Amino acid sequence: MAFLSLQFNSFLIISAILLFSAFFAAGQSECALKLGFSLTTEDTSPWSSPSGEFAFGFRPLQRSSSGSKDHFFLAIWFNKIPEKTIVWSKNEFSVSRGSKLELTNKGKLILHGSQGIEIWTAPSNGRSTCAAMLNSGNFVLINGSSNSIWESFKEPTDTILPDQIISMGTNLYARQSETNYTEGKFKLSMQSDGNLVLYRIFWPTEDSSDAYWASNTVLSNPDVQLIFDTAGYLYLKDGKENIQNITEKDMGSPQEFYHMARIDSDGVFRAYNHPRKNHAADAKGCTSAWSAIQSIPEDLCQAIIGYLGSGACGYNSYCVNSNGKPQCLCPEGYSPVDSLNVLKGCKPNFQLPSCQQNGWELNMEFIEFKELNETDWPLNDYDLRTGSRVDKDTCKEFCRQDCFCAAVIYDKNYCWKKKFPLSNGRQYAGLTRTALIKVPKSNTTDLCLKRKDQSTLVLVGSLLLGSSVFLNFLLLLTILIGFFFIYHKKMLNVQFDSTTFGLRRYTYKELEEATGGFKQQLGRGAFGTVYKGVTPSIPKRYIAVKMLNKVEPDGEKEFKTEVNAIGQTHHKNLVTLLGYCDEGENRLLVYEYMSNGSLATLLFGVSRPHWNQRMQIVCGIARGLMYLHEECSTQIIHCDVKPENILLDEFLMPKISDFGLAKLLLAEQSRAARTNIRGTVGYFAPEWFRKASITVKVDIYSLGVMVLEIICCKSSVVFAMGEEEEALVDWAYDCYSKKKLNKMVEDDEEARNDMKSVERLVMVAIWCIQEDPSIRPSMRRITQMLEGVAEVPIPPRPSAFSSS
Ligand SMILES: *[C@@H]1O[C@H](CO)[C@@H](O)[C@H](O)[C@H]1NC(C)=O
Ligand SMILES: *[C@@H]1O[C@H](CO)[C@@H](O)[C@H](O)[C@H]1NC(C)=O
Ligand SMILES: *[C@@H]1O[C@H](CO)[C@@H](O)[C@H](O)[C@H]1NC(C)=O
Ligand SMILES: *[C@@H]1O[C@H](CO)[C@@H](O)[C@H](O)[C@H]1NC(C)=O
Ligand SMILES: *[C@@H]1O[C@H](CO)[C@@H](O)[C@H](O)[C@H]1NC(C)=O
Repeated sequence: MAFLSLQFNSFLIISAILLFSAFFAAGQSECALKLGFSLTTEDTSPWSSPSGEFAFGFRPLQRSSSGSKDHFFLAIWFNKIPEKTIVWSKNEFSVSRGSKLELTNKGKLILHGSQGIEIWTAPSNGRSTCAAMLNSGNFVLINGSSNSIWESFKEPTDTILPDQIISMGTNLYARQSETNYTEGKFKLSMQSDGNLVLYRIFWPTEDSSDAYWASNTVLSNPDVQLIFDTAGYLYLKDGKENIQNITEKDMGSPQEFYHMARIDSDGVFRAYNHPRKNHAADAKGCTSAWSAIQSIPEDLCQAIIGYLGSGACGYNSYCVNSNGKPQCLCPEGYSPVDSLNVLKGCKPNFQLPSCQQNGWELNMEFIEFKELNETDWPLNDYDLRTGSRVDKDTCKEFCRQDCFCAAVIYDKNYCWKKKFPLSNGRQYAGLTRTALIKVPKSNTTDLCLKRKDQSTLVLVGSLLLGSSVFLNFLLLLTILIGFFFIYHKKMLNVQFDSTTFGLRRYTYKELEEATGGFKQQLGRGAFGTVYKGVTPSIPKRYIAVKMLNKVEPDGEKEFKTEVNAIGQTHHKNLVTLLGYCDEGENRLLVYEYMSNGSLATLLFGVSRPHWNQRMQIVCGIARGLMYLHEECSTQIIHCDVKPENILLDEFLMPKISDFGLAKLLLAEQSRAARTNIRGTVGYFAPEWFRKASITVKVDIYSLGVMVLEIICCKSSVVFAMGEEEEALVDWAYDCYSKKKLNKMVEDDEEARNDMKSVERLVMVAIWCIQEDPSIRPSMRRITQMLEGVAEVPIPPRPSAFSSS
């Protein structure tokens, strides 16, 4: 039990400082908050530590997207960094505007609701005579004999700070999600047997929790504490002896970095650092962020497994480890239960098998199987077939014949049957099992649900292998010249990325090394050149580094704002910005590397992607644009939607790149647009040529042109220079109005067998290319039309003037 002496005896003061430096280190020598002090939700200045680095007070509760600031909760946060990262909170007590926190004359710290009701009181026993927000981030209540009788450090929420000691019997609970501070599904427990354990919690009975990581320091007569020392290391101490190091990576010097450790909403316990620099005073005005230095466990996907519950991700989903972050993905044929919280799992896009007549599961012809390589839903299988005659096809057959079977896992001569719900899903390189997921064959009008054809990748591959050396060379060349191509791409997910994980700030030198001196050029755009590189940190991953052309030297603030805005976007159909560098003239952006290059290369290249694949790409782009226009906190107009700016990951999932550079782009685009004739640079909406205002509808126009290109696999630029002497948009409308749509997909058998979808897509595209921006539908509407939720009305002629 810590003890504090404030007596006016110099000897005692000195010994107190030595012994209890955690409290009054950093020169704080008084208990600043006297009885009678109070704070309301309207107060703009919280109770801050003498150094100003921590503050105690009310924080607004972020209510979903509405962002209303009418509810507040008590918290302690880092007050000198822009993120104002919360390290302690009483989020369970949300209070409305007008509520008050008071250190009463009776010696209690009381939180009053707006109606004056007592909501929370500390301490439960004893009377305090004053309180202090200490430089360590600890808020303490002190009694008449200078003892601390309540400390926020002793009631941790999800975060530990240097100097904080976690005693046996203390639990830290992860949040629901990055922005919802309510207790979530995971806890870190410093147990009274001396063991430090991470648990997955199953509400409502906390007892039935599953451990997924432990220090294994069970002792017979333990006196164990979890220590976060000032150098940034976490370790376990039994009595005076260090018995186990929890972290070993260097956290950077405490003079330069803030440190904290937190059990995050995804269940990973991470040690973070953050540069201390005072940004307002920093001439370069750089933003910096928390970087995870160490993650425990390193691969949550494989760590969590149990007969209870769904595993690291929700039911029916599977988990992929991406640089220490678990990503929860839905198999084909399934979609997220709650798109805001992937931990809630996936639901089938079809009726659950009921084994009753009329069910699709009883009609063998309606059944098909989706394959996921290197994927398993272990445990909970209800039947196993094994033997030398069991191959993949017989395995499918076992499942097809069993109406309760949801999926089978196949591994050489083994076939496990799985029922709903699927749990503990995981996918990692080297897993020899293949999941075969049973779904009904679909022939809905939902273009976005039509299955991608898995043979596409194989086709590209076999072309490379099978054709002549010369063709191979050409292909290779195309691929090399083509834009950013690359690597294992994480396929999904958004929701785990969080602004608090934030962007990494790189030095120019680091990026120079990462790219081997900017050697391998991936592409060149209006604003800069893109180079391939490898991250300096472990684990290594490929990155695309975009060096912006010399930008205005005084555009720093703009650059910062834009980088911030880009960094806050998280969507599976957007390329993720990993970090940036801003050193004088050197402005660089660091993106994830996309292994399959740009849509332009794919679409106008040697091998045309399959029709179903192309429809998937349209749907993905639409979802990404909808997010930019309607779902992210500040609306982003892309301004440069074109196939060169759509990149494809290894699953050919489209990802929009180059967004958020609007300020840079607006000037450039207007110039480019005004110097080009309509139809040649086909993606520009007509309003670029007038002095009309630029709205999100310019992106809709560009999308429309691009959809037409995706339908006919023809570049609008090349088209306009061809013999038709007509803009692609006018030609498409002609084909549509004269009911000659098959001309658009002339030599594409797959598309010709699906003219209904072709027509629907063309109609949506024609709505997008309307000359009058106000007639063009919103992205939400477009997505609904693509998904078959909304009918597509007959589109009018795009322009009153175009030829017919
Ligand atoms: C946080 O999540 C809980 C449980 O899902 C929910 O009841 C609560 O409304 C959420 N709070 C906010 C602020 O979204
Ligand atoms: C202050 O707290 C300590 C420890 O809880 C207790 O022993 C002491 O009597 C308290 N002093 C007063 C004046 O209440
Ligand atoms: C913990 O790490 C320190 C230095 O990194 C080392 O000296 C010490 O032996 C380690 N302690 C244990 C118990 O492994
Ligand atoms: C799965 O693995 C097999 C064999 O390695 C391969 O032929 C097949 O193309 C893979 N399927 C997918 C969807 O990647
Ligand atoms: C879907 O397919 C089934 C069986 O092949 C057929 O009976 C049904 O008419 C089809 N529905 C549509 C909308 O094409």
